[in-house]
Amino acid sequence: MCCWLLAAACHRPAMQNARRDIHPFSNPEQIRVRHLDLDCEVLFDRKILKGSATLSVDRRVDSGAPPLILDTRNLRIEKVEVAGETGAYSATKFELGAGDPILGAPLTISMPPAAAKVRIEYSTSPEASALQWLDPAQTFTQSQAIHARSWIPLQDTPGVRMSYSARVRTPKDLLAVMSAVNDPDAPRTGDYNFQQHAQIPSYLIALAVGDLQFRPMGNRTGVYAEPAVVESAAKEFEDTEKMLKAAQDLYGPYRWRRYDLLVLPPSFPYGGMENPGLTFATPTILAGDKSLVSLVAHELAHSWSGNLVTNATWSDFWLNEGFTVYVERRILEKVYGRPREEMEAVLGRQDLEREMAKLPERDQILHIDLKGRDPDDGATSVPYEKGALLLRSLEEKFGRERFDAFLREYFNHFAFQSITTGIFVDYLKKHLPGAQTQVPLDEWLTKPGIPASAPRPVSDAFTKVAEQARRWAAGETPATKIETAGWTTHEWLHFLKSLPATIGGDRMRELDKAFSFTRTGNSEILEEWLIIVVRNRYEPAYPRLEEFLVSVGRRKYLKPLYEELVKTPDGRARAAAIYKKARPGYHPIAAATVDGILK
Ligand code: BES
Ligand code: ZN
Repeated sequence: MCCWLLAAACHRPAMQNARRDIHPFSNPEQIRVRHLDLDCEVLFDRKILKGSATLSVDRRVDSGAPPLILDTRNLRIEKVEVAGETGAYSATKFELGAGDPILGAPLTISMPPAAAKVRIEYSTSPEASALQWLDPAQTFTQSQAIHARSWIPLQDTPGVRMSYSARVRTPKDLLAVMSAVNDPDAPRTGDYNFQQHAQIPSYLIALAVGDLQFRPMGNRTGVYAEPAVVESAAKEFEDTEKMLKAAQDLYGPYRWRRYDLLVLPPSFPYGGMENPGLTFATPTILAGDKSLVSLVAHELAHSWSGNLVTNATWSDFWLNEGFTVYVERRILEKVYGRPREEMEAVLGRQDLEREMAKLPERDQILHIDLKGRDPDDGATSVPYEKGALLLRSLEEKFGRERFDAFLREYFNHFAFQSITTGIFVDYLKKHLPGAQTQVPLDEWLTKPGIPASAPRPVSDAFTKVAEQARRWAAGETPATKIETAGWTTHEWLHFLKSLPATIGGDRMRELDKAFSFTRTGNSEILEEWLIIVVRNRYEPAYPRLEEFLVSVGRRKYLKPLYEELVKTPDGRARAAAIYKKARPGYHPIAAATVDGILK
């Protein structure tokens, strides 16, 4: 290793009040990227992006000229050049270090003292973990948590924020959209330009290309999707404008100009991804009756919690997701009423308790230690639901008026900043005095389990549903006589979750005959039913199970189903056979998850 590389490793000043992020190789303490200018061509035939990333940097220390260390994964670096504020580019020394299975490889670039910009010519590989390539021609990225580095060389940590501009060239008949302000009327030239003026973390940089159509829903909201679904998607999401208004009334102005949604193919590995100005969403939420639009409320809520105030490291992920689940439910309550919020909150706590029972203690902690681990492993219901319970607990102790004012000011105070759990705690103690005695803050943040004083949301509607389930299970009421009139999706979900673990074949048939669960078009209900199907080996639903696993690549659905399947030898064999057919259609992130289960 040459001396400037060593110098970089030794002179890392401690960050104030911050744990250093362990997931990048990069050295933002010394040199920090402020702007990215991306110029790339989307080559469907080779399944790669090819082009250049020009990074404008600020130096943190004036002694010496530390190298710039960037994060990469499977990138082919062609050329690296540097330039001053003005003036021509000239070649510079660079070295691509050894690869790590989780982190990728550091790209170390020699930076002369006057260098203010660096241009990297590169191409991605067909295996890039952020990208999925589909036929007919369509591709999209998923950068969170640390996949941005597989399509752009940059400082891949949520602690570094940058603005970006981009020029993207595609086949002429396709449209490119990004996590920036998109022009709904952009002519289809195959040459598209984007600007994201706000400073955002790398995990929010996103691109999608396909045969996309646009339908407006309001003057600042709309939907992009393939022609076959765009109309029904616009209908399904018609309450988006109301949600946006509800969120602004609660937490202050929406700062991202437009809020559009992009409906992706079913292989999208997540339910939704809060890319600024353009939420990416799975089509599995198109239930036809708006019953799954809490996902829109969730991704929209990230416009405050996550995109505006961002977790500085992946150990602080609960600051993004816990706050977002809390805000999501406040939006739902305003738009759909308190009973709906209560049902969502009860389901949330139930999910948390069920998942926690299976998690090792270290994964039950909000401020999680991810040393040596992929940050995607931290995305359990703990940051989401335990985080949301902490905020609900604060709301209950201090009252809505005070807590709402606190949150509004918190979003304002830290707008466009990345903060750690420690910074949040300091702010909380100062602005909501007594918080750490009103709730056991240290226990919430650093201990496994759920504190005894945690809120226990209740829903009257669910109490009635559970009673119906009990009566059926006890043999007091046949399925055809269960009082289901007017049940919403959430009530059906609670019903399924309230059934006993073991149900005989005849009883499974009775349920299915009465309610046609196997044929439901609602993905959440189907998921819950298929878990029961696998657990009880209800063979008539196996073809549907296979069809679902082959056509849908949403990780949240795949993981519990494959995990349930591998519990028995014949289930494992079935899982392996299905996976053989399904894997080519999964996004690399989903495939990695299932690989882990079937290994
Ligand atoms: N930001 C997350 C998705 C994510 C988390 C991607 C971690 C990569 C790593 C997004 O906001 C989210 O939470 N999506 C949920 C849906 C939501 C309604 C709980 C999902 O995808 O299931
Ligand atoms: Zn989220």
